[in-house]
Amino acid sequence: MRRSFILPWGIALLMLACGSASGTGEDRMAVKGSPGKAVFNMNCTLCHGRDGKAGLNGAKDLTVSTLTAEEMMAIVKNGKGAMAPYKQVLSAKEIEAVVAYIRTLGGAK
Ligand code: HEC
Repeated sequence: MRRSFILPWGIALLMLACGSASGTGEDRMAVKGSPGKAVFNMNCTLCHGRDGKAGLNGAKDLTVSTLTAEEMMAIVKNGKGAMAPYKQVLSAKEIEAVVAYIRTLGGAK
């Protein structure tokens, strides 16, 4: 009796969780146009925040970074300080895309 009560709720919660994980309509459209944004939101927001400014866990504000794209790619590939290397996690293409995306966040001209 108890189990059959809990199960439908479990499924409803699961659907809710999936619904929010897929993001808002705005997110989905942006992801389509910018593969780097999807990579960023999945891998980088934990420390850098959605807007790149968060600086959590000692991370840098990406919007004021003065690094070149090459320097950024090297940091994303090899890591720096508390930031883990991503060369095993992301493909070269994804790293290029995510760096292109963070350069649109503000800082780099
Ligand atoms: C675990 C937390 C963490 C995550 C996740 C993380 N970073 Fe970082 N990031 C840092 C820290 C800490 C620094 C500063 C390193 C230092 O200079 O000592 C940093 C620095 C950087 C810098 C250099 C900025 C500058 O001007 O010096 C770039 C670019 C960067 N991160 C991009 C990314 C990207 C892209 C991702 C996702 C693929 C990512 N980071 C994920 C913590 C993180």
